[in-house]
Amino acid sequence: MSWFKETFGSSIGRKFAMALSALFLIIFLLQHLIINLTSVFSEETFNSLSHFMGTNPVVQFALQPVLIIGVIFHFVMGFILEIRNKNAREVKYAKNEGGANSSWMSRNMIWSGLFILFFLGFHFADFWIPEIIHKYIEVHPDDPNRYYAETVHMFENPIRVGIYTLSFVFLALHLKHGFQSAFQSMGARHSKYTPMIKKIGDAYSIVVPALYIFIAVYHHFTQAI
Ligand code: HEM
Repeated sequence: MSWFKETFGSSIGRKFAMALSALFLIIFLLQHLIINLTSVFSEETFNSLSHFMGTNPVVQFALQPVLIIGVIFHFVMGFILEIRNKNAREVKYAKNEGGANSSWMSRNMIWSGLFILFFLGFHFADFWIPEIIHKYIEVHPDDPNRYYAETVHMFENPIRVGIYTLSFVFLALHLKHGFQSAFQSMGARHSKYTPMIKKIGDAYSIVVPALYIFIAVYHHFTQAI
């Protein structure tokens, strides 16, 4: 267990582990977006991809548990780092220097993170929990074409679309600082690559949440009545 102590017992190790989980979630966000985007273009493609993801044993029993552990790890570690940083700041500085040495978004990662956590609870109640009940508890006969109608129906309610849209704005703010910070914590500091990573991070943090908003709003306004 000495590697465990070495990794999580040091500030650098904790930051590295946090960054690794962040990169993993950044990749998840992209694949989740690509699958959900197909719902805008092709009902058939969305149904077959969702059916594959929902029934493939590797996805269900290997990747999905890793994802859930990754999400929990990221939040727990985020809270630990926040508490430790706060304690360290209080010892070092008589007064908080505020914007003098860090951006507003970097100081508020815990709040944007908390909002995303609230969204995930809401989102799991909408999609994931009913799916688990459908598949493993009530055990309905398999209908590979049900996913599209179920997903589109979720965006009928304007309040839900509003909550999702607001959550994706918080996601953008979280990613704006988080993306490049994850690379920095993993030691990627280079005069040539750091500005490039920052540019990619800025683009990712705008384009990905904007496309998530587009999906929710699109389905809201194109509901078959
Ligand atoms: C319009 C936007 C979105 C739609 C339509 C959507 C749709 C879905 C659907 C249909 C599922 C159930 C998959 C299944 O188990 O069969 C799901 C699960 C999930 N979603 Fe989303 N999602 C959206 C945005 C997001 C965002 C922004 C995040 C992360 C911040 C997220 C995180 C998750 C997670 C962690 C799961 C559970 C793991 C999984 O089964 O893949 N989703 N989503």
